[in-house]
Amino acid sequence: MSKTLIAPSLLAADFGNLQRDVEMVNASEADWHHIDVMDGVFVPNISYGMPVLKAIQQHATKPLDVHLMIVDPDRYIEEFARLGAAHLTVHYEACPHLHRTLQAIKSHGMKAGVAINPHTNVQLLEDTIKDIDIVIIMSVNPGFGGQSFIENTYDKIKSLKALITKKNASTLIEIDGGVTTNNAQKLVAAGADILVAGSFVFKSQDPQATIKALKG
Ligand code: DX5
Ligand code: ZN
Repeated sequence: MSKTLIAPSLLAADFGNLQRDVEMVNASEADWHHIDVMDGVFVPNISYGMPVLKAIQQHATKPLDVHLMIVDPDRYIEEFARLGAAHLTVHYEACPHLHRTLQAIKSHGMKAGVAINPHTNVQLLEDTIKDIDIVIIMSVNPGFGGQSFIENTYDKIKSLKALITKKNASTLIEIDGGVTTNNAQKLVAAGADILVAGSFVFKSQDPQATIKALKG
């Protein structure tokens, strides 16, 4: 069985030592750099934008997994492609024309992701699942790191997995929020392919060992 992919979230990095923390991820067993962009409108917090992403990109050696928590993401698709995003994930709740948005992301050579908030039912993705490369199931309400994991996530993973199988899609399932070694195995058993972890990795004594432990 292939190992779970791990995407450390740089939201929990030390921004005063960003290069050091990006290089820690480079040297670790992590698979992707998870990058959270927040606009203070879609979510009640502002994280970082293009100049910081540019700095990350200059040092990162693994695919950039960009998670946009912003309204009207269509405006920035081209710019994120130019900044080196390998995967661009938009929120279902922020996209009135989701199918068009997904096509636009792919037309710029990126994998297309859709994130769903804890209250959003996975069945709403039935008509687009074959067009989605990655679904991020939010296991906390988006906007902040360090929140506690929502237990209903396991049921959502199982429902999404069933939908992917039913539609014969090849979509990957990514879990974002409150991931630790306490829930990692159970998430993978439920059907998760990728685990995002912010605080649990960067606030740990030995982040590289924590990444290894999450990978299982
Ligand atoms: C939350 C972000 C997450 C966040 C996860 O809105 O999408 O990627 O960094 O942080 P932890 O792992 O601390 O819950
Ligand atoms: Zn995220």
